[in-house]
Amino acid sequence: MESICSFLVCSGLFLAIAMILCLKGKNLGRRTKKLPPGPAGWPIIGNIFDLGTEPHRALQELKLKYGPVLRLRLGSMDTVVIQSAKAAAQLLKNHDASFCDRKPLDVFTCHNYRDGSLAVGRFSPYWRTVRRLCSVEMMTVKRINDTASIRRKCIDQMIRNIEDDTAAANARGESGVVNLPHYLFLMAFNVIGNLMLSRDLLDSQCKEGYEFFQATGMAAMWAGTPNVADFLPFLKWFDPQGLRRNMSRDMARALKIVEGFVKERLEVYKLGNEEKNNKDFLDTLLEFEGDGKDWHEKIPYERIIIIILEMFFAGSETTSAATEWAMAELLRKPEAMRKVKEELNEVVGENRNVEESDIEKLPYLQAVVKEALRLHPSVPLLVPRNTMQDTNFMGYHIAKDTQVFVNAWAIGRDPDYWEDPLTFKPERFLGSNIDYKGQNFELIPFGSGRRICVGMLLAQRVLLLSLASLIHCFDWELDKDSTTPETLDMREKIGMSVKKLIPLNVIPKKRPRIMAA
Ligand code: HEM
Repeated sequence: MESICSFLVCSGLFLAIAMILCLKGKNLGRRTKKLPPGPAGWPIIGNIFDLGTEPHRALQELKLKYGPVLRLRLGSMDTVVIQSAKAAAQLLKNHDASFCDRKPLDVFTCHNYRDGSLAVGRFSPYWRTVRRLCSVEMMTVKRINDTASIRRKCIDQMIRNIEDDTAAANARGESGVVNLPHYLFLMAFNVIGNLMLSRDLLDSQCKEGYEFFQATGMAAMWAGTPNVADFLPFLKWFDPQGLRRNMSRDMARALKIVEGFVKERLEVYKLGNEEKNNKDFLDTLLEFEGDGKDWHEKIPYERIIIIILEMFFAGSETTSAATEWAMAELLRKPEAMRKVKEELNEVVGENRNVEESDIEKLPYLQAVVKEALRLHPSVPLLVPRNTMQDTNFMGYHIAKDTQVFVNAWAIGRDPDYWEDPLTFKPERFLGSNIDYKGQNFELIPFGSGRRICVGMLLAQRVLLLSLASLIHCFDWELDKDSTTPETLDMREKIGMSVKKLIPLNVIPKKRPRIMAA
């Protein structure tokens, strides 16, 4: 009996010592792992207030104190921020495989959006399949070249709308000031509608178009609003800002309309009398039956609807905002505007419209677009990544499930890389090989690596052709009663993408002889 008691006591003592040693070892391990530097946070909320109302600017300020790799705690969400080209190259080139997941956000749980999404979906065989389909079937150079007439048509329509609305305003004795981003957004939306669904969603023939336009606009707004429930998950249940509820309502409206378009297409397939020369992306998604590698069946119907909807979310506002910023910078710098016009006159002449085939002969215009994207990337922190596993990154320990922001906005304004970084100077790109296609980490408005923007090629074409056409068809003036090039308001409005806070209101004067087709 005595020996049993002493055995139990000894075993208990041994277990207790082993547990203490284990726990000590774990804590020691945690402490010895070097974490990136960052400001101390408040209990529970951590560093949420350090982000301010313009996170990309607040984070750039923190870089001055903590360097290019910064650690924050946003509620319970560990976050790392990358703020130099060198650190971005390390992350997006050398460690991309560890950082290519996305953080699950509460608003995207509505209607199982995240399960079907490419942009916020998990890195998974499904994601790889859809990504490949987009890159190979929709966004190749050939496919983009083949769809040039769609972009031409939508841009011509935008020019005509501006002409008509200005003429009507002039007839009423008004100055003819137009809200440029409104026209740019409708154009970008219609380009995507035509590529995805072969439809002009925003014309009088399409009765669902405006409802869809409104619903996607609202959904984009909810998606772009920081949600306290993402930082403090115990609040998810309460949905304190009502974001999930609102998103659920507006996303349902948008999904229902896309579902209607998909059903219509399936009816056409059933009748078997579809004689289409050009397949659109909906055809590609519906016809896909697996790639024998990552996916072995058709893409579920509900997910097809989500993918189509996502292209409108991801592609319309980003592209229109970037064009608006470029135009605003040109209006602030008449010398640069004059150079764009001269180049257009020389290469295109005054009697025809600009075509995409002209673009390669317009280096100054290309430099203007690069410079505008450097100063005003539409998605300044890229789409947040999420770490797939514990990673040793530049000597720091980054734990699995850490959210990662890449501050493309701060990187584009880094004085270590850019001379006179805050000045709009397109000339810096003339004769330079620096491009925004994900290889030069000092200029990454479209991101880089596995998650680089899948619509980059399309966005580039729309941006260049729409800007060239606007400048070739009109002389643009600021409303002199309210602003001058020196006082033009360049403040930002943060949402899913960063737009001008005060929309660019400008007066177009039709240039003689240039006619929209
Ligand atoms: C000027 C216009 C645009 C800008 C500045 C832009 C920017 C971006 C950025 C920064 C990302 C995240 C990249 C990363 O995480 O590394 C992204 C992702 C994405 N973009 Fe764009 N974008 C634009 C236009 C478009 C267009 C026109 C489309 C499609 C019609 C599109 C579709 C997407 C999609 C689907 C993703 C998610 C990719 C993924 O996670 O695999 N974007 N975009």
